[in-house]
Amino acid sequence: MHCFINKIICLMIIFVRLSAEEYNFPILKNDNLLRAARGEAVDRVPVWVMRQAGRYLPEFQEVRKQHDFFTICRTPELACEVTMQPLRRFDLDASIIFSDILVIPQALGMTVEMHPGVGPVFPEPLQSPADLAKLTPEGAVGRLTYVGDAITMMRHMLDGRVPLIGFTGAPWTLMGYMIEGGGSKTMAKSKAWLSDYPDDAKKLLSMLTESIVDYLEMQVKAGAQLLQIFESSAEHLPKEDFLKWSVPYIKEIRDKLTQRLQQQSIPIVPMTIFAKGAGHSLKEQAALGYDVIGLDWTVDPIEARKEVGPNITLQGNLDPQDMYKTPEEIRALTTEMVQKFGKERYIANLGHGITPQTPIVSMETLVDAVHKAL
Ligand code: CP3
Repeated sequence: MHCFINKIICLMIIFVRLSAEEYNFPILKNDNLLRAARGEAVDRVPVWVMRQAGRYLPEFQEVRKQHDFFTICRTPELACEVTMQPLRRFDLDASIIFSDILVIPQALGMTVEMHPGVGPVFPEPLQSPADLAKLTPEGAVGRLTYVGDAITMMRHMLDGRVPLIGFTGAPWTLMGYMIEGGGSKTMAKSKAWLSDYPDDAKKLLSMLTESIVDYLEMQVKAGAQLLQIFESSAEHLPKEDFLKWSVPYIKEIRDKLTQRLQQQSIPIVPMTIFAKGAGHSLKEQAALGYDVIGLDWTVDPIEARKEVGPNITLQGNLDPQDMYKTPEEIRALTTEMVQKFGKERYIANLGHGITPQTPIVSMETLVDAVHKAL
């Protein structure tokens, strides 16, 4: 009987190992990003850029002329081609799968269009709590398998060159787009929900949290090697509201995902929280169990390190507008930034996404300056 149980355990271990390696991914050659995220020594400071695949690249514009934005996201071959584009040009230390945070609202049944020059548009945003009944959380992750397929395909295409980052929007940021119906300067309607319908706001944020956990679990199983959570709309919340309406859900995502993966004996991957405009709450962010905190450009590297302590990796944070300066100025600013952060527990990046008019030479200069700074 004992022997039989042992055999079953052995088979289970083999099965688990097989399922973790079932795709037979190529061995990772440049693991500096993952080492930095885990607090290990690096050969060079790793650098990648938010929105590194995007409109500043003429080859991206070419693909966009032929295909609708969400068609690119939904077609693994196209998503992989676009993900690869910045890596062909620049000596980057990470790739990030091409997709968008708004695929979750789509999977919940909402229509989202990408209008050139405008950004995302929801023809039918959530207008009142009664609209929550229209959302379809059951089986939402099953409508996002194309992201997993793109991730798996991309891991093979990368051939181990650099790690592949998966990502999601955080609940408050997604709620904002679903209620505002697109980008908003004030988030007035979403903020009104927080004060007028707090219970419905909680219901929506919890629904999003559940979908996000399913979605991230799927991304890890498909081959994502680090996960970044974008709380880009944190900047609209005063500290007290950030701690109430954003932080608990971000914590729940980390805790539930860790637990889910542990139950299946799947190793957790490093996780980054990027809460734009939440430099007022770095201590609180450091307590959420994430490996990396992304900083926007308003935060001073030395102050940030004091706030979060020695055991968290920092990512950031050059002002994307600095990319319009001369190569000499960009080099000087980048060198100064990297020297302030130091080589330990640091991932170089911009403080937000790269903007469409950025010259190619600025990216070349940024990447080179990071690698030569220390
Ligand atoms: O970083 C990468 O290279 C991966 C791709 C990526 C995109 N969107 C592609 C994209 C990532 C990580 C995102 C995340 C995303 N999407 C966020 C969080 C990051 C942030 O910038 O705050 C947000 C808020 C969105 C929603 C979204 N998608 C907006 C507001 C817009 C329009 C504004 C803009 O800058 O374009 C998009 C469109 C979008 N997402 C484009 C790309 C390349 C451009 C669309 C186009 O080609 O027409």
